[in-house]
Amino acid sequence: MEPIIAGNWKMNKDPAESRSLVQKLLELVSDVKERAIIIIPPFTSLPYVSEIIWNSRLRLGAQNMHWTRQGAFTGEISGLFLKQLGCEYVVIGHSERRHIMGETDEVINKKLKTALEIGLISIFCVGETEQEKQNGQTEEVISRQLSQGLQGIENEVHKLILAYEPVWAIGTGKTATPEQAAQVHRFIRARLKKNTAILYGGSVKPENVDVLMAQQDIDGVLVGGASLKPESFARIVRFSIP
Ligand code: 13P
Repeated sequence: MEPIIAGNWKMNKDPAESRSLVQKLLELVSDVKERAIIIIPPFTSLPYVSEIIWNSRLRLGAQNMHWTRQGAFTGEISGLFLKQLGCEYVVIGHSERRHIMGETDEVINKKLKTALEIGLISIFCVGETEQEKQNGQTEEVISRQLSQGLQGIENEVHKLILAYEPVWAIGTGKTATPEQAAQVHRFIRARLKKNTAILYGGSVKPENVDVLMAQQDIDGVLVGGASLKPESFARIVRFSIP
């Protein structure tokens, strides 16, 4: 399996900044083979980024979508529209959507089902909060997020990408140790019983990507802050390439 390196820009980069970032990134990774590189800009930048990368190795993803295909849902975005802009991937259940926007496992399940139906590859995020970790509930929480999120689609889980993002490690500079991350990845792998790619996310940077990617059950990384600078994201893409 090719390592997957995904950059989630979150609510950063206006159209002009997005163009410039992706153009620089393309130059820095144009010779890189054997990596699946996914760029996940804000909705408003998708058409611009799409136009620049369409003929390259870079792939496009969106940060969220609604669970219906169209209709009276003011302010929401249909996965079908995202596909038309060239998106192949969509992030579902990111912790910022769960914890800030109040997304439930039930909503996430509906979105995962719709993405499957319309042919978008979900990057399905799970992960425990600091408090849950301190209470020793990591496996219990992830188990619930997986069983409720994947209800009715367990047999299709190989068509998704999983992302383990411990909430306490996101944007905090605190990375899970490679052993901690690998332990949870093993747990998720055993629980899924299918060959699904599992990414690690949470303060991934050039300094820690090599040791994270050296873990057997870590198939790639989902990068936030460090994907906003072309040099640092390119260095992450190029991990272990001399
Ligand atoms: P940071 O890399 O900024 O911690 O963000 C991780 C993340 O949430 C990616 O989806």
